[in-house]
Order: sequence, then C-alpha cells, then structure tokens
Amino acid sequence: MKFFVDTADVAEIRSLAALGMVDGVTTNPSLIAKSGRKIAEVVAEICAAVEGPVSAEVTATDFDTMLKEGRYLRGIAPNVAVKVPLTVDGLRTCKTLADEGTKVNVTLCFSAAQALLAAKAGAAFISPFVGRLDDVGQDGMALIEEIVTIYANYPNLRTEILVASVRHPIHVVQAAKLGAHVATLPPAVLRALFNHPLTDKGLAAFLADWAKTGQSIL
Ligand code: E4P
Repeated sequence: MKFFVDTADVAEIRSLAALGMVDGVTTNPSLIAKSGRKIAEVVAEICAAVEGPVSAEVTATDFDTMLKEGRYLRGIAPNVAVKVPLTVDGLRTCKTLADEGTKVNVTLCFSAAQALLAAKAGAAFISPFVGRLDDVGQDGMALIEEIVTIYANYPNLRTEILVASVRHPIHVVQAAKLGAHVATLPPAVLRALFNHPLTDKGLAAFLADWAKTGQSIL
C-alpha cells in the first residue's frame, strides 16, 4: 500500500520523506490556504522534495477555466497530479487532461457511483473521503469496500483507490485490509502508525538488561 501525506507544509513533508515512507503528497485549497503561501511556489517545492505524485487542486468550477488551471498546474513539475472535484465539469476536465497524458486525482468522492464515473473519465486516482462520511453517520470504510469490489470486476481499469480524509491508524489498517492502493495521511496519523506502548516498554526492559551486562556492541 502506498502512503501519501496530506499537507502543504514543506518542512513536514521533507521530515517525513526522510523516513522513507512517503510515496506522494496530496494538497487541497484549504491546506494551501493554511500554508499561507502561493500555490505555484509551494507545489514546486513539494514536487522537488518527493518523487511520487503531488496532487494540486483546481479552484475553478467551470470546464474551460478548470482545464486552463489544470494545464497550468501540471506545468509546475512533471510529478504534479491535477486534482479536480467530482462534478460534471470536473469529470469532463479529468477526461480531457487524462487524454492528454496527465495524471488526474478526482476528489470529494462520496459514493460508489461517483467512483465508477471517475474511472470512466480516466482518473489516475479516485479520492473517497472516509472521515467526512463517518462524521455524518455513514460508514466511510464501507464505501472503500464497494469501490474495491466494483473496480475488481473490471481489471482493465487503471484508477487507483486513494483513501482520503483519514483520521486515525485504524482507517489505515482497514483500508489496507480491503486492498486500497493508497491512503493519504495527515502527518500526525503517519507518525502515529509507528507507535505502540508495548514497543516502548519492551525496549526499555531490553536496554535495562543490556546495561547490566556492561557490554557494548561496537
Ligand atoms: C484528500 O486529498 C484531502 O485533501 C483530505 O484527505 C481531506 O481530509 P479532511 O476531511 O480531513 O479535510
């Protein structure tokens, strides 16, 4: 399973990339706003920090302007994936950009029918938002299961399921059990995956016993 990080904080991305666990990055207009920086500048820096796809999202809502924005964003770096919302105009933009050879991430997916449309539009990634579904009392992970089942019926589909709006490590494990291709993780969730109190406790005991031997390996 690939891990993307869901942030526009370049220092955080560099620090996580150094751990060897980052296969790509997703941003969205809210994350760019939070960075307080110009989108072209921040996306260029992120693209230089990671080898994998970096999603940069259009902010227009009509086809003509979305297409222009998508073409502009993909020009920032070769590893930009243009992100479009799951709307009629967004999917039309996806189809056009995909036909031009651009990777497109279709975002704000909340139903299996929407995921099917995105695949037909040639999306490289479909982003179902599990946390936001959980927030409104629907089972976000049930949507992932549905999409996995549907896409498996059509082996020619190349769209990768990118689990988004991830809130905690259990989401990551559930998504992996279902065979989702990618999860995009807030930095805190990626860091939390490393932790277990029994690991800390066990290590402390090993080191205490080792200290009693008076040995040193080197
Ligand atoms: C994905 O690409 C989105 O940027 C993100 O996962 C949204 O997550 P949120 O629901 O925590 O804002």
